Amino acid sequence: MSSGAPKIQARVTEVTAVNELIKTFRFVPRDGGPVPPFSGGSHIVVEMNDNGTRRLNPYSLMSDPSDTTGYAISVRRDDCGRGGSLYMHNHVEPGMEMTISYPVNLFPEDTRARKHLLLAGGIGITPFIAQMAQMDERNAHFELHYAVASRKLGQFGDELKRSYENRVHLYYDDENIRMDIPALLRGQPLGTHVYVCGPKGMIAYVHDMADKAGWPKGAVHSEEFLAPPVGEAFTVELAKSEKTIRVGATQSLLEAIEAAGVDAPYLCRGGACGQCECDVVVADGDIEHNDHWLTPEQRASQKKIMPCVSRFAGERLVLDL
Ligand code: FES
Repeated sequence: MSSGAPKIQARVTEVTAVNELIKTFRFVPRDGGPVPPFSGGSHIVVEMNDNGTRRLNPYSLMSDPSDTTGYAISVRRDDCGRGGSLYMHNHVEPGMEMTISYPVNLFPEDTRARKHLLLAGGIGITPFIAQMAQMDERNAHFELHYAVASRKLGQFGDELKRSYENRVHLYYDDENIRMDIPALLRGQPLGTHVYVCGPKGMIAYVHDMADKAGWPKGAVHSEEFLAPPVGEAFTVELAKSEKTIRVGATQSLLEAIEAAGVDAPYLCRGGACGQCECDVVVADGDIEHNDHWLTPEQRASQKKIMPCVSRFAGERLVLDL
C-alpha cells in the first residue's frame, strides 16, 4: 500500500473568517482543471510545512459534491494543539500553493436508509454540509440537529437553516437549549440511519443511547478524526529500515517515521481507518493507544500500534517497519 491517497497540486483561492474560531479555505487545482469528484462525508489531507515540520492533517470536505471547480474545508483554531490549525489560520493566504490529497470517504451516507438523522456538534458539522447538499439533490429524507456553544459560533447553522428550513434544528449550550439525543433516537421511523460527528463524548453518548434503544449497529454511523495528541518525546527503532528515530513532543509517530524517509501507509491520519496499523516487535514500556481502531485485546497485547495517533512511554519500542 502506497502512502495516502494520490496528491493534487492546489492553489488557495479564498480564506474566509467564519467567526473568531473558524476559517474556511477554498482550493482549486493549479492546472486549472476540475477537482476529482467526491461524495458527502469525504475528507482530504492537507500538507503543510510548519517551520520545518511537515504536517499532513485531514479535514472534511464541506463544499457541494456537485461542484467540481474546487474544494472547501473549514478549520477550527486550536491554541493548545500541535500547530496544524494555527498554521492554517496564521499562514495560509489566497494565492498560496499547497499539496492536498484526493478525497477519501470514511463517513459515507447509507443510501438504503429511508431517513437520515444527522447529529452534529461544533466543527463536526462540516461533513454534513456536503452530505446535505447531496441528499437534497436526490430528494432524500433527512433531518439535521446541530449543537454549538453559542449563537456567536453558529453561522453554519444559520446558513443551513436558511437553505433547508424546518429540516434543521439548532441548539445553543450557553442558552441551555440542548439536543435531547435519547428522545431523537426513540422517535424515528423504521429504516432510519443516524450519523454523528462532533466531540468524542457526543459520539460515545449517541452510540451508547442507540445501543440501549435497540438500534441495529449498522444503522449508527460516526466520524471522529482524532488530532494526534502532544506528549513526551520518545525514541523508536525501525527494524526493517534499520533506523532509530526520535519522536518530538508535538510530532506524531507517523510524522517522525515519514521525516526519517520511511514510507508508511496511512489514509485518515486520525486513528479511524486502520490503514497505518503496524506490528510491534518489542515494547518494553507502555503504548499509549489513542486510536479507535484496535480492539481492547489488541491493545492489551502491545503487539500492534497505530502510528498516526499513538505514542509510547518506556525503555524501548521496536516497530516492524
Ligand atoms: S492512518 Fe487511519 S488509523 Fe492511522
